[in-house]
Amino acid sequence: MTDPVNVADYFERAAQTVDPQVWCYFEGGSGDEVSLRANAAAYSRWRLRPRMLVDVSAISLETTLLGTPVSMPLGVAPFAMQRLLDPEGELATARAAAAASAHADIAEASGDAPRWLQLYVLRDRQRTLDHIAEGRESGYSALVLTVDMPLLGRRERDLKLGFQIPDDLPLPYIRARSPALAETMSEHFQTSPALTWDDLEWVAAESRLPIVLKGILTREDALLAVEHGAAAVYVSNHGGRQLDGVAAGLDALPEVAEAVGDRCEVYVDGGIRRGTDVLKALALGARAAFVGRPVACALAVDGERGVSRVLALLRDELELGLGLLGCTSPAEVSRSHVEPTVPYDPPA
Ligand SMILES: Cc1cc2nc3c(=O)[nH]c(=O)nc-3n(C[C@H](O)[C@H](O)[C@H](O)COP(=O)(O)O)c2cc1C
Repeated sequence: MTDPVNVADYFERAAQTVDPQVWCYFEGGSGDEVSLRANAAAYSRWRLRPRMLVDVSAISLETTLLGTPVSMPLGVAPFAMQRLLDPEGELATARAAAAASAHADIAEASGDAPRWLQLYVLRDRQRTLDHIAEGRESGYSALVLTVDMPLLGRRERDLKLGFQIPDDLPLPYIRARSPALAETMSEHFQTSPALTWDDLEWVAAESRLPIVLKGILTREDALLAVEHGAAAVYVSNHGGRQLDGVAAGLDALPEVAEAVGDRCEVYVDGGIRRGTDVLKALALGARAAFVGRPVACALAVDGERGVSRVLALLRDELELGLGLLGCTSPAEVSRSHVEPTVPYDPPA
């Protein structure tokens, strides 16, 4: 069989490869999956406006995130339980993508690449403090605080197919400190339902790291994020896995980008499947975009090699798209490079 040539090929092969009782966890969303579908659909409602006769003989995808140089404005979104897809799991992804995750061995696997630690504030604050301390010692340079999970979304595919976290799956951050761990998903992820804006200060003080606030969908919260000193606002509906019926990441992006202006960086995820999707995100105000399931699919299909390849494919698409758009760097992509395919009705 030939190698997959695009993200859709990886989706197709992953669905054929992975046990359906496991795949439901990765593929599915919450409720009726309206927000899950909205993520991908949002990209088809914008079209590109390329400019001609621009010298694009030298294109660079390089940019900076929180001041750190990165090779392209596309990263790997944090997603859990990667060892269900590949024995090397997070280590394979980290090696392939230098992605951030939560443990010293993963930090080591990603070498000199910038690493961000994704954090949930759990009910047990001591565990969260330990996690922050561990992250700081392991040299993470920013903290991605995911704030859209005060309660766990209801993932109905998991319920229908009986998805269970295997007992032998390493979940060091959660399990090591709780040997008598209870059985269900919700008990594994008892994020604090009581977290508020006031708590951001202790997280920032404990970590002494720049905070990326992940899961913001409104201009109101974007403004509060800036007021509370966030270094970046990460627009996301958690891959359609939390509150069903919310906006797609791309649809929430313009209002957030407009609200924060240049006071902090803005990122987006949800439904990105092509390099041209990244271009649309840049045009609507994101400094960078992130992919979750495309990486999960590639990991399931071909481990570390798959993740390398899917990122290379997206990178190539992004580079080609940038040149054909008439731009030589991500910074040149502006609002004038996109237009809605249907009359756009911005939220009031
Ligand atoms: C299987 C799975 C597990 C996830 N786990 C986490 C997580 O632990 N923390 C988090 O902040 N986001 C998590 N997410 C959300 C992703 O970071 C990201 O927002 C989403 O996957 C982006 O959408 P995409 O999959 O369409 O690219 C998860 C997503 C999936 C699909």
